[in-house]
Amino acid sequence: MIESLNHNSFQVADEVLAVLLCLSCRGRLDQRDGELVCAECGRKYPCVNGVIRFVEAQRYAGSFGFQWHVHARTQLDTKESDRSERAFRRRTGFRPDDLAGKLVLDVGCGMGRFADVATRWGAHVVGVDLSLAAEVAARNLADRNATIFQADVFQLPFAPESFDFMMLPGLLKPGGRIAIWLYSGYNNWYKMSDLYRKVTRRMPPKLLHKLCWGVVPLHGIHQVLKKIPLVGRPASGALAYMIPMAHHPDRAWRILDTFDWYSPWYQSKHTYEEVFRWFESCGLEDLRVIEQPIAVQGRRPLYPEVGRLQDEKEIGQCVE
Ligand SMILES: C[S@@+](CC[C@H](N)C(=O)[O-])C[C@H]1O[C@@H](n2cnc3c(N)ncnc32)[C@H](O)[C@@H]1O
Repeated sequence: MIESLNHNSFQVADEVLAVLLCLSCRGRLDQRDGELVCAECGRKYPCVNGVIRFVEAQRYAGSFGFQWHVHARTQLDTKESDRSERAFRRRTGFRPDDLAGKLVLDVGCGMGRFADVATRWGAHVVGVDLSLAAEVAARNLADRNATIFQADVFQLPFAPESFDFMMLPGLLKPGGRIAIWLYSGYNNWYKMSDLYRKVTRRMPPKLLHKLCWGVVPLHGIHQVLKKIPLVGRPASGALAYMIPMAHHPDRAWRILDTFDWYSPWYQSKHTYEEVFRWFESCGLEDLRVIEQPIAVQGRRPLYPEVGRLQDEKEIGQCVE
C-alpha cells in the first residue's frame, strides 16, 4: 500500500514491490531514502507529492492532469451516490466476489474512482496514470489498499504475469481476467464533436473548462424543447447533433464529462470486431461483451500451452 505519510515519503507494499521492474534494465527495485532504486543499474525513481514517478512529464495528457485536479472528487462515490460503482459494473462486468483479495491493475486511473470501487470490494489496486491525476488519485486513496504510480501504459514497470485483474493481457497471470471499455466506433453522433475537437484540444484548459459551463443553460434548453409537442424532440435532437455534450443529470458531471470529451489530444473509437481481434491475437479466451458499449472482458488461459505469450516482444504487442 502506498501511504502518503508526508509529501515525499511512501511505503510500497511487498506484494507490489515484488512485481516492479526497472524501465531501463528490467532489474528489481528497492525502496531507499524516499525513492525506488534499481538494484541492478542504480536508476532512481523519485517520489514527488506522494507519487513514484516513472515518467518525467505528462506529455500529451496535460488536459487530464488539469481536469482531475479541478474535479478531484466529483465522480468519487459517497454515501449518497454509487454512480461510479454502477458504471464500473456496467463497463467491466466484474462483481465484488471476483476482485476480493486480488491484485488489480487500473491503467489510466484518473483521480481513482474505479480504483476506489475495487478497493471497497477488497482488491489491492495498483493505479497508473500518465498525467498529474496520479497525485489526485494518491490523495483520494491514501487510506486504501492502493498504490498509485505516474507511468505510461506503453512503458510499464511491471513483470509479466503479475496481475489477477487488469487491462493488459501480457501482464495478466494465467487465469487472470481483463476488462476494457472504449469509445464506440459505431456512433455517428460523434462527427461534429470530432470536428470541434480539432480546435478545442488546442485551447488553454482553463478557457475550455469555462466554455464547458455552457452545458448548464444548454441542458435547460433541451429540457424545455422536449416538452414541446411534435417538434420539440426533433429540435432537441438537432441541437444535440450540432452541439454534442454530456447530458448527465448532475451538473458537475455534465461539465466534467463535456470537458473530458473536447480536451484530449487523442481520442480513438473502436468496434467490437477490433477488440475481439486484439483479444484473440493475444490468446485470450472466454470473451464476453459487457453491458455498456464498447466493453469486453476476456481471460488469459490457465494452462501455459494454450495461448501462451512466449516472450516480452509478444507481450509488448499485446500492450499496444
Ligand atoms: C478518460 S480518462 C479516464 C479516467 C478513469 N479511468 C475514469 O474513468 O474516471 C483517461 C485517463 O487515461 C490517462 N492516460 C492517457 N494516456 C495514458 C498513457 N499513455 N498511460 C497512462 N495513462 C494514460 C489520462 O491521463 C486520463 O487520466
